[in-house]
Amino acid sequence: MNRTIELLCNHTSIRSFTNQPLTKEQGEAIFLAANQTSSFSLLQAVSILRVTDPELRKKVMQLSVNQSYIEEAAEFWIFCADFNRNHQIAPEVDLEYIEFLLIGSFDAGLMAQNALTAAESMGLGGVFIGGVRSNIDELSEVLHLPKYVIPLVGLCIGHPSGDKPGMKPRLPQSMIMFDDQYQILAKEKLAIYDETMREYYESRPVTAPFTVKKVQGWSGHIQDHLQRSIQPGMLDYLRKQGYAKK
Ligand SMILES: Cc1cc2nc3c(=O)[nH]c(=O)nc-3n(C[C@H](O)[C@H](O)[C@H](O)COP(=O)(O)O)c2cc1C
Repeated sequence: MNRTIELLCNHTSIRSFTNQPLTKEQGEAIFLAANQTSSFSLLQAVSILRVTDPELRKKVMQLSVNQSYIEEAAEFWIFCADFNRNHQIAPEVDLEYIEFLLIGSFDAGLMAQNALTAAESMGLGGVFIGGVRSNIDELSEVLHLPKYVIPLVGLCIGHPSGDKPGMKPRLPQSMIMFDDQYQILAKEKLAIYDETMREYYESRPVTAPFTVKKVQGWSGHIQDHLQRSIQPGMLDYLRKQGYAKK
C-alpha cells in the first residue's frame, strides 16, 4: 500500500475538534487540492462558501440540525452546485434540464471529498454535513445564494481532539462490485454484514449528544435512517433556484 491508499483506507469522520485554527498554508493547500478536482466538461460548476463569521456559523449550525461540531470546527466550508457563473457567460442555454443538477452535484461531491482527503493528509480531520440541506431555503437566504446556486454539503475541518474513532466497517466487495452483470442483494451476505455492524456498534463508546446506545445491524440502521432522509420541500426549492424543471 502506498501512503495515499493507506490514507484513504484509514478514513473516519471526525466530529470533535480542538480550538486550534488551521494555518493559512493548510487552508490554501486544501483549497488548491480541491480546486484541481476533475470537472464535467470543465464547466467548473461549484462554489465554496467558507463560513468565517461566528454569528453566521452559529446560525448555519442551528439550520443544520444543531450539529455542534459545525461551530467547533476550525473551518466550515459549504460546497454548492453553481451554474450562476456559467449562466452569466451563456444566458441563452436552458439550465432547467435535470442533467445540470446531476453535473453540479457530482462535481461538488468530488471536490468536497478531495478537500477532506487533503485535510486528512495533513493530520487534520473532518466530517461532511448533509444537514445543511435540512432548512435549505433559509440557509440559502442567510448565505445570499442567487439563482442556480444550491448548498449541497458542508465540511467541518479541524484538528482532531481525543482518540481517533474506530473505523466503520463497509459492505464487502462482493456486495457492491460486480463483474459484468448486476447482482441483486444476497440475504446471506447481508446477514454477515449485519452481524459485523452489530459488533461494531456494540464496541463503540457512547458520546454526547447520543446518550442512548442503540445496537443494531446495518439493516436496522437503514430502516431507521432511510425515511428520515426525505426532504419533502426539496423539489420546490430546486425549481425555485432554476434547476430540475425538465
Ligand atoms: C454527503 C454526506 C453527508 C453527511 N452528513 C453528515 C451530517 O450531517 N452529520 C454527520 O455527523 N455526519 C454526516 N456524514 C458523515 C457520515 O455519517 C459518515 O461518513 C458515515 O457514517 C461513515 O462514517 P465514517 O466517515 O467515519 O467512515 C455525511 C457524509 C456524507 C458523505
